[in-house]
Order: sequence, then C-alpha cells, then structure tokens
Amino acid sequence: MKHALIIFSGGLDTTVCVPLMREQGFERISTVCIDVGQPSEDISQATERAQILKTEHAVIDAKEEFASQHCFPAIYANADYYGYPLSTAIARPIIARKAAEFGISHGADAFVHGCTGKGNDQFRIEYGLRLFAPDIPIIAPIREGNLTRSWEIEYAERVGAPIGQSKDKIWSIDENVWGRSIEGGRLEDPNYAPPEEIFQWTNGFVAAPGEPQEVTVSFENGNPVAVDGKPFSPLQIIQEANRIAGLHGVGRIDMMEDRMIGLKVRENYECPGAMLLVAAHKALEALVTTHAERRFKVLVDQQWAELAYQGLWWDPFMEDLNAFIASVQSRVSGEVSVRLFKGGMQVTRRSSPWALYSEAAASFD
Ligand code: ARG
Repeated sequence: MKHALIIFSGGLDTTVCVPLMREQGFERISTVCIDVGQPSEDISQATERAQILKTEHAVIDAKEEFASQHCFPAIYANADYYGYPLSTAIARPIIARKAAEFGISHGADAFVHGCTGKGNDQFRIEYGLRLFAPDIPIIAPIREGNLTRSWEIEYAERVGAPIGQSKDKIWSIDENVWGRSIEGGRLEDPNYAPPEEIFQWTNGFVAAPGEPQEVTVSFENGNPVAVDGKPFSPLQIIQEANRIAGLHGVGRIDMMEDRMIGLKVRENYECPGAMLLVAAHKALEALVTTHAERRFKVLVDQQWAELAYQGLWWDPFMEDLNAFIASVQSRVSGEVSVRLFKGGMQVTRRSSPWALYSEAAASFD
C-alpha cells in the first residue's frame, strides 16, 4: 500500500491534501501534527479533522526541544531579520526534522506539505526533509496544482472534507512559542492599519497597565534561566517572557518583509517574549564582550539571521557561525533589568561577573 505522510496543521491547505493524495493513489495516509506551541484548539481541531478524514494521526510534542534547541540559539544570535525575530522561520526546521524521522520510522513513501509557491516555508520544510530523509520524495499539492483558496474551499465541500470555519477565516495565522504571525485579508494593503482584533498575545497602548514594570532576566552562558530570581525551563521562560512583555504591549511588529522568492510582503507579528529576551541578551553581551568581538558579532548575527530566515538551519556555514556565537556565549552570564511600559522597553540595569567595564577607569571622578 502506497503510504503518504502529510505534515498536518488541520488548516484548509493540509486538510484538502488528504483527499487529493487519495486521488493520487495513496491508500494509506498518515497525518502528523508537530506541536511547537500553536494554540491547543488548533492541535485538537487537527486531531478531529484527521479522525473525520480517517487518517492515521499522530501529534508530536516538540515544544521543549523547540525552545531549547531553536529559540535559545536565536537568543544567542540576537535574532533579527529586519526587525522580525524569526518566529515562523526557526520552527520549520524542527517540524521538518520531526516529520522526516516519523516518515522513516513509519515507512512513508512520500512526504506531503501544504505550502503554496509564494512563501518561504516550502524551502524551509523541504531542506529539512531532504537532509534527514533524502530518499523519500516530496509532494506539494497546493503549489504543484497552483490551487487557489476558493478552489480548495469548493473542492473540500464537494468531496466532504471537514473545513468548518476555515473558509470564514479572515487572517492567515502562524503561531509557535517564539511568536505569532498574522497576514492576509486587508493586511495585504500596507497602507491599512492593523486592527486591534489581530492581536492575542499583546495589549494595545490603552489596555496596557498605566504603571511601568521592571523585570530582571538572569542569563547563564547566554541562556535565560530566571525571571525576577525565579528559575524556569527554556519553554517556561519564553512563556513567562511572552506573558510579561505581552501584558505591557511590547513586541508588536508591523513590517515589510523581503521573501526568498523575491516578493515583498507586509507582515504583522507579535513576539513579546522574543523581543524582551533578545533585548536583555544584547545588553548583557554589550557588557561582557570586547569591542572587536562586538563589532564582529553584529556581522555574524546578521548572517545568522539571513540563514535562519532561509531555513538553512543545518547549513555548514550556520555551524561555523554558531561556533563563534557559542564561544562568545561562554561569558554571557549575569543579570539585566528591563523596564516595560505601554509598548516600550528600556534596559535599566546590567551586571555580570565577566563585565569588561571598570568604573574606576571610566569614572569622571
Ligand atoms: N513570512 C513569515 C516568514 O516567512 C511568516 C509567515 C507565516 N505564515 C502565516 N500564514 N502567517 O517567516
């Protein structure tokens, strides 16, 4: 029996992939949903739809690994692609690797993903699949058939695929623990201001507390390990940073993004925790690095962000960059305090046993 493994979110695109693959002669269909911190309703919706579609369904919890192996390296590299802390981008490599491993162990004859031909994720997903499962072919039905949203909705209704509310969805949203991306609909007009309703993790200026809050993040070798003295796991600390910075409306990003295929697109993000943790990390690096290290690390970080954006997570050049970044992290230990207020953020204090600062030398007295 020919076996297709669909990398499944339960959204419109991946849902229509199921009947499409049956039409292509795959008798055995597996769907795998990789949990990188998308809303639990999305995960359960995927499970429900898989049941209705009678696929062999699996959910893989990759949240802790995503936090420690993908988000933390983004902190070391002060992840910043023209203002975007790379939330969707750094999740794709782990989704691809988990799917590749699952496909190999379950004897898949083909991988199927729901990417269109317009975005970056088609590359990011396929690089990971090619690297970890080079012998299994990849099918991208939406891209290959050049299928439009309206065609997919009409097709799903015709074949009785469960798309429920998907057809009324105004925004295309991608979410993981490192951030939320919102696009599509009226947001495609860069001259249209994002409505308050697109945001879920961050308060707007009005709703944010009227008092500033100072939060202290402790780092060990570049890893954030505690907030206000309270220790957290990598996943927990990102969630806690999201909560605090989001409360104060920090981390909304509205930008023009240059995609890999050459398209310029308008994107909205909310990445409160990422913005807070990277700002604090950067401030600590500024205290413990030499001038030459600092100057060079800006260039390394920029290259890192370009590669991460392109999904070249396991590229040899990425390993080279990570080696330099890791060497610097060996002294990025200490504490940084950041004041949050009404969408703004200011570093107020920093200290480290590795500080290269000498008050005696710098003092005016
Ligand atoms: N453009 C962003 C990136 O390439 C994120 C796109 C996420 N997708 C979405 N449907 N919101 O990293």
